[in-house]
Amino acid sequence: MESLLELPTPALLIEHSRMMRNLDRMQELANAQSCDLRPHTKTHKSVDLAARQIEKGASGLTVAKVGEAEVYVDHGFEDIFLAYAVIGEEKYRRLLNLMGRATISFCVDTLEGARQAGQFFSSAGNDASVVVEVDAGYHRCGLPWDSNEIVQLCQQVDKSPGLRFQGIMTHAGHSYKGPSSDSETHRQALERVASEERDRMIELADRLAQEGLKPAVVSIGSTPTMSAFENRTSSDGQTITEIRPGNYIFNDAIQVGLGVASLEECALTVLATVISVQADSNGRERLFLDAGKKIFTSDTGYGTDGYGTLLYNARTMTKLPHATLHSLSEEHGWVSVSGAATFDVGDRVRVVPNHACVVMNNQPQVFMVDGQDIVGKIRVDAINRVV
Ligand SMILES: Cc1ncc(COP(=O)(O)O)c(C=O)c1O
Repeated sequence: MESLLELPTPALLIEHSRMMRNLDRMQELANAQSCDLRPHTKTHKSVDLAARQIEKGASGLTVAKVGEAEVYVDHGFEDIFLAYAVIGEEKYRRLLNLMGRATISFCVDTLEGARQAGQFFSSAGNDASVVVEVDAGYHRCGLPWDSNEIVQLCQQVDKSPGLRFQGIMTHAGHSYKGPSSDSETHRQALERVASEERDRMIELADRLAQEGLKPAVVSIGSTPTMSAFENRTSSDGQTITEIRPGNYIFNDAIQVGLGVASLEECALTVLATVISVQADSNGRERLFLDAGKKIFTSDTGYGTDGYGTLLYNARTMTKLPHATLHSLSEEHGWVSVSGAATFDVGDRVRVVPNHACVVMNNQPQVFMVDGQDIVGKIRVDAINRVV
């Protein structure tokens, strides 16, 4: 069996047993909360990993971009939701192509978006399934959950020729902000955003049902909010029907910082080689890794320290104390180590990246490992499919 020691670096590694445990746990959560799991595949962009999610019980896949949907449909996946406001005739034409081969739905979040999509699909003679995007507190896309405008948009989609109203969705991206004050704990912050995400969507679903527009789909999901998710059903019978976490398959240093996952639950690591060891004026060791911005990306987030968490070595996978990946240049990772020298040129380190989803999009293949042993290889099939 090939070992990590023989791999050219930098390389991306997935710790197989950790990933499988993460997949099992999220599917168990969905089952226990009586809703579908439709994982967001922008995290891994891999046909192999999407197939594992379906095998475990996922109802379908979530993607962001039309190019990603094309990759999954080409590989036989049958039910894809683009959790993204799709705009433009060229994109609609490509979706129309996919509709003959798979069940496709996408987001609309403005009246103008609904008008453009309706015009295209009605003249194409093929109704498109639309899920209306709602702002439940993140303020990225979507109309506010408690506004009259969101109800009007759903009604507009429902009556628009060429569109079929499927339901409502939101993404609680503000769950990544961490506690809102010094007195709020990490757990309280997660519970606050998770219950807002759930309750606001159920409240809107109730309002729509009262208007005669009961949504078939009430879809929520981020990895942080799923760690505190408990479904409920309103007195009118509205409930969360679907969750769409993505990052959970790997977790990363941001999830650890938020208190969502432990370091032991992080499955994706970057394997890098120490290419230079220098001492600074205080005698501290400075290491340079052969992985920089192009591997780690420059993402930081709540609770992170530098650009990733250095692990002791491939076997123990515990956090290396007193070592920080504090800076990145394009091809170099800058590490400072306090205390006695512990590294030599040629040593290898594993680093849990801050944000797994963006790291996966920069290598065409990733190695599946079990400790030091390489047990497989997966392709990142939808790499760079951002159009
Ligand atoms: C619309 C949408 N749904 C679901 C997700 C999945 O969230 P996470 O990566 O936190 O699991 C994202 C993440 O960006 C998203 O933008």
